[in-house]
Amino acid sequence: MEFKSLLTIKNLHVSIDLGHTVVKAVDGANIDIRENEILGLIGESGSGKSVLGLAILKLLPPNATVDGEVWFDGANLVESSEEEMRRIRGKEIAWIPQDPATSLNPVLKVGFQISEPMVLHTTLDKEQVRQKTISLLDFFDIQPPERRAEEYPYQYSGGMRQRALIAMGTSTNPKLLIADEPTKGVDTPRKAQVAAMFRRIKRENPGLSILLITHDLRFAQALCDRIAVMYCAQIIEVTPAQTFFEAPLHPYSEALLEALPSRGLKQIPGDMPSMITPPGGCRFHPRCRYARPECRHYEPPFSVIDGTLVRCWRYA
Ligand SMILES: Nc1ncnc2c1ncn2[C@@H]1O[C@H](COP(=O)(O)OP(=O)(O)OP(=O)(O)O)[C@@H](O)[C@H]1O
Ligand SMILES: [Mg+2]
Repeated sequence: MEFKSLLTIKNLHVSIDLGHTVVKAVDGANIDIRENEILGLIGESGSGKSVLGLAILKLLPPNATVDGEVWFDGANLVESSEEEMRRIRGKEIAWIPQDPATSLNPVLKVGFQISEPMVLHTTLDKEQVRQKTISLLDFFDIQPPERRAEEYPYQYSGGMRQRALIAMGTSTNPKLLIADEPTKGVDTPRKAQVAAMFRRIKRENPGLSILLITHDLRFAQALCDRIAVMYCAQIIEVTPAQTFFEAPLHPYSEALLEALPSRGLKQIPGDMPSMITPPGGCRFHPRCRYARPECRHYEPPFSVIDGTLVRCWRYA
């Protein structure tokens, strides 16, 4: 099958300068987000997932330096102006942050906040914007929508605030939605509802691509078409979701799956290494059951095996 790429990341590096030291939070990432897909970006806490997502939209703090290319709609966003980025964030690529509690403005009514991107970035008139705001609140099950539109964020539950943010993000029919840990703080029974909501968003927005950043493998399995695995600032496997859950290639992917409760709850030995002084060779080698001498000394190249991109000496 032919796939069209919506956004292409080439050799992306992000360094965060902490004054006394520099954290290399993304190290040479290469990945495509395809049209109409849900791509899961998974990996342990601190592996660089959020930083990668924030780098796409240039939402990183000023002490972060980004190198490389992020191609979207014929432009390299790394080189784009702040004015152009504001248009892209408002209209083309929606970012749903990891912490919905602090992402809505506490002193503005939620209905006003949802309508703002439509006022700024679409040709809808005032009445159309009002109607769409109400129908979005209704779509995201924020009831009763007319009353809820007039309320402030503190009057919403955590789940409602998250859904309001997603309503705001999808109001302008973006091409890409990046959702950072949408199940953070959500209990297990409610996770199925969040997954169902994403399926409804896909149904209502034909062609929309979603980058789902999560360390919840079950949630990723319920939704994703492909999975990209990040380990210590590097992307080490990109594969169809079915392959990932049935027969992943990278030893780290294998270990992540074995740590699932349904698969034996086997902890990965050791800790994720420091991003400041990562181990030489393959970054996973100190924790890898298959490690061989070359893994300690040389960075593994990427190999493509049956449609899976994997960075491991076993496949080189
Ligand atoms: N603003 C920042 N200042 C300093 N260091 C940062 C900043 N943001 C991220 N980092 C560092 O960059 C690395 C990657 O962090 P990131 O937040 O991308 O991880 P993550 O994979 O999203 O983790 P989690 O699953 O916990 O959200 C970490 O070592 C983190 O401490
Ligand atoms: Mg994160």
